Amino acid sequence: MKKALLLILLFPFAATSAIADKLRLPADAPPAFQAECGSCHVVFPPQLMIADDWRRVMRSLDKHYGDNASLDEKTRLILEDFHVRNAGNARKVGAGRTARAGEPPRLTQTDWFQREHRKVSAADWKDAKVKTPANCAACHTQAAEGSYREREIVMPDGRRWKD
Ligand code: HEC
Ligand code: HEC
Repeated sequence: MKKALLLILLFPFAATSAIADKLRLPADAPPAFQAECGSCHVVFPPQLMIADDWRRVMRSLDKHYGDNASLDEKTRLILEDFHVRNAGNARKVGAGRTARAGEPPRLTQTDWFQREHRKVSAADWKDAKVKTPANCAACHTQAAEGSYREREIVMPDGRRWKD
């Protein structure tokens, strides 16, 4: 027991294998996070982009990937601070690239996301139920709760990823 605890302290990332276990909504999430950032798509775990990328997203909400997601300045600052405080580190997720010129970086365009999804086929990405990789909930049935475990994945054609 003592030895196990020591191992957890020394190797916090080895102790639980999957990053999916660490994507639950941070306990300090302001109410505006779900209300404002979860109204058009599921809220994205802040851990999946680096702080600089979140700043770019939060400072261009009027030009939000072809949409307008503007907020009053007070709410915007609260949400920028929240995303930056909980952002991922560059070593783990890498910087996000843009998919189209002029838009902010995307978490679906980080090295981490691409690596984690390399086994997803082109046909699955193109499925009408998916539309965009940003549509996490099309495959991750518990994405709205911030849970991305493999056993919860159901592909758009209805097959379970893991039994
Ligand atoms: C008015 C609707 C709307 C609101 C509100 C909104 N978004 Fe989005 N968001 C979109 C759309 C549309 C996309 C692009 C989806 C696509 O085409 O892939 C998007 C994409 C994103 C992406 C990139 C996803 C990727 O592909 O990696 C991030 C990050 C993001 N939103 C964060 C936020 C945050 C943070 C908030 C709250 C401050 C927010 N969104 C509020 C509509 C919205
Ligand atoms: C087309 C279906 C699909 C979409 C859309 C999708 N994913 Fe996934 N995701 C998968 C599959 C399948 C795996 C498992 C891949 C494997 O086993 O190698 C996975 C793996 C993951 C994992 C790792 C799970 C683990 O336990 O190792 C995370 C985290 C994740 N996805 C997050 C996201 C997020 C966040 C989004 C949206 C921005 C998203 N995914 C969009 C299908 C999808």
